[in-house]
Amino acid sequence: MEVVIQPDAEAGARLVADEIEQLLQARPDAVLGLATGSSPLAVYAELIRRHQAGRVSFARARAFTLDEYVGLPPEHPERYRNVIERDFTGQVDFAPGAVQGPDGSAADLPATCAAYEAAIAAAGGVDLQILGIGTDGHIAFNEPGSSLASRTRIKTLTEQTRRDNARFFGGDVDAVPHHCLTQGLATIMSARHVVLVASGTGKAEAVHQLVEGAVSALWPATILQHHPHVTVLVDEDAASRLRLADYFRQVYAAKPAWQGL
Ligand code: F6R
Repeated sequence: MEVVIQPDAEAGARLVADEIEQLLQARPDAVLGLATGSSPLAVYAELIRRHQAGRVSFARARAFTLDEYVGLPPEHPERYRNVIERDFTGQVDFAPGAVQGPDGSAADLPATCAAYEAAIAAAGGVDLQILGIGTDGHIAFNEPGSSLASRTRIKTLTEQTRRDNARFFGGDVDAVPHHCLTQGLATIMSARHVVLVASGTGKAEAVHQLVEGAVSALWPATILQHHPHVTVLVDEDAASRLRLADYFRQVYAAKPAWQGL
């Protein structure tokens, strides 16, 4: 696991965008894994800028989102399919149908979850997965207690996550659904490169556990310690509880230029 501490989310976003730009230059049909929420917004803004400047095209790429609320009507602005289109994919040149997400309004939820796993596998798996992290250590919506071997399935959101996400629902926690469909921890672990972005002191404990805690279902993100290629990009606030912060700074300062993230 490589931890890169940057002064702010925008500086981290430029590094992630560099990595995605290089990936798409090498493999224009690469498969991206996309998170919703606030953490990746700076990355998406940077990619949109580079697309508008003619530096990067998504025309042959495909993308899979991580998760979806269950039960929101199709036109609801917080449905993650609508969110990712508004925040990112609708502002670049993905081909129609190239961006997929779990269908939280399907009549048969277990079947739609199995079909989603099959679609990711049929695309050849995810080359680069962007992740945020919840204050309770969830990745995608794998809440504490999630099986470390889980695949896409229905989950119940914790009260903490529903409170955290109420800001997207006009501050009304009762408007936040209780259930979601989410890629499992094993699904995320199958991605070839995982890039997790986090900023702010609210994420500091979760980032500390992710990087330095014992691997446990209590902090689901800790499963990433078993992944061979994870990059954690944090600002100073999110890094503020890392015991090894100085070492991570030294490693990054001495990193060979050819290595990338
Ligand atoms: C969203 C997702 C979640 C968020 C997490 C952090 O698709 O999978 O795991 O990444 O809840 O949310 P923000 O970035 O809004 O703090």
